[in-house]
Amino acid sequence: MTWIKVLSQTDLPAGSRQLVKAGGRDVLLVHHNGHIYAIANRCPHLGASLARGELTGDNAIVCPRHRSAFDLETGDVKAWSPWPPAFGRMLGAVRREQALSVYPIKVEDGEIWIHIGDVYEPGQSAAG
Ligand code: FES
Repeated sequence: MTWIKVLSQTDLPAGSRQLVKAGGRDVLLVHHNGHIYAIANRCPHLGASLARGELTGDNAIVCPRHRSAFDLETGDVKAWSPWPPAFGRMLGAVRREQALSVYPIKVEDGEIWIHIGDVYEPGQSAAG
């Protein structure tokens, strides 16, 4: 698949986030710590929206439901269903630990583009 233009850069000021559709997928754009990230708006644990997820100083997003945390750049799991205590671990066992899908982005002439075809899926190298 080719690059898809999703948003004007002016519509994503520092510290903001925006939900967009790209290639039929719900993608969350996050402008955090001076970088723009594009991630799937679906937690790999049990599918919650990450649109209101907390952003951390080490570039992670925390799912608001059971607080799984994912690296914004790689999608790697930093925490898997730690909430609520004890019960969260049981919920974590419902689904095997899985990285968050992240999408390459580029900014050209003030427009943000996403490359949907290069999703980093679990067990797949970045080169695909
Ligand atoms: S749905 Fe996101 S951590 Fe459970």
